[in-house]
Amino acid sequence: MAVSASSDVIVLALGIILAAVYLFRDAIFAAAKPKSAPVPTSKSASGGGNPRDFIAKMKDSKKRIVIFYGSQTGTAEEYAIRLAKEAKSKFGLASLVCDPEEYDFENLDQIPEDCCVFFVMATYGEGEPTDNAVQLCQNLQDESFEFSNGEHKLDGLKYVIFGLGNKTYEHYNAIARNVDGYLSKMGAVRIGERGEGDDDKSMEEDYLEWKDGMWEAFAQAMNVEEGQGGDSPDFAVTEVADHPQEKVYLGELSARALTRTKGIHDAKNPFPAPITIARELFEQGSDRNAVHIELSTEGSGITYQHGDHVGVWPLNADVEVERLLCALGLHDKRDTVINIESLDPALAKVPFPVPTTYGTVLRHYIDISALAGRQILGVLSKTATSTLSPKAA
Ligand SMILES: Cc1cc2nc3c(=O)[nH]c(=O)nc-3n(C[C@H](O)[C@H](O)[C@H](O)COP(=O)(O)O)c2cc1C
Repeated sequence: MAVSASSDVIVLALGIILAAVYLFRDAIFAAAKPKSAPVPTSKSASGGGNPRDFIAKMKDSKKRIVIFYGSQTGTAEEYAIRLAKEAKSKFGLASLVCDPEEYDFENLDQIPEDCCVFFVMATYGEGEPTDNAVQLCQNLQDESFEFSNGEHKLDGLKYVIFGLGNKTYEHYNAIARNVDGYLSKMGAVRIGERGEGDDDKSMEEDYLEWKDGMWEAFAQAMNVEEGQGGDSPDFAVTEVADHPQEKVYLGELSARALTRTKGIHDAKNPFPAPITIARELFEQGSDRNAVHIELSTEGSGITYQHGDHVGVWPLNADVEVERLLCALGLHDKRDTVINIESLDPALAKVPFPVPTTYGTVLRHYIDISALAGRQILGVLSKTATSTLSPKAA
């Protein structure tokens, strides 16, 4: 296991459950299917004018849903993307997934009647918004803030809200509750119940429990029917011949690491700190386990400051990588250089640096050993060829 320290921010353990199968399913089944090259969404289709105008972007790209996420460490963003994908697969409706920091809210009142806004909001601190949602929350709360109608009113605006919080904090899900309150006070109409996920116990279960009722209410409010969607790939994987070897990512997490450029280490350029000491703290035979670990940041320029985080990024075990390469029919292509392109960058960002190789992706960049969640099992089941009944499977 390799351990890294960054100066002040968490480096996330890469956790994309069984995404390998999903990501490479086109490559795996390519032999059986006629090849058609998916075309990435045109960038010009995302609003040629003011880049902070989400209404123009929605209209340009004919999207009926805009999803704002208030997220510090990415969980709310992940749920926002999941909601967007579900809207697409259930109803065939495309969404604009937005970081609220990148948009202005004066025209929130101009959301067309057949459209709606989702808010996926995490709570931090003493019931405070995430950094990227501070302005949004202020605009919704501040009664002197005027929308384009010249009033602090959002009459009839349809919205969905899901909050992320943790019950061990005093102000549980305060932001989602507040945003819900501000919106309804301004005359907006909530679709379904407000969802609240508890990160301490049951975020996933809370989400799953909430979403079915919400989608039912959504179908009614938006006058749409389930079954109009379909599965479409998120990424296009292309094999690249003759790419300069020194420009291929083989486990590095940043461009600076790849080019070995000296410079400041931060979340985007983590310093891979070697373990200098690792020893078990409990006596042999104890059924408990705690390890004392010391990391060396020598030569990194990093100095510890109060509140700094250490991130751990594990590598997958060789045996598991080999097994999966075989299962995917990619064993002979482990060192083939690949590029991966998102077919809709707003919905799916390529989660690791490219170009890389099939082997590196499975070894370094995605979690291939975690239990598959219901969501990914649902996706996989559609391509399963097992003769077992769905119940037995
Ligand atoms: C430092 C810190 C403070 C938090 N404060 C609260 C809080 O006051 N109320 C709450 O319900 N949850 C609180 N949480 C839980 C987060 O909202 C929850 O972990 C959420 O899933 C984070 O989403 P994100 O990954 O999108 O930032 C806090 C979490 C952290 C790490």
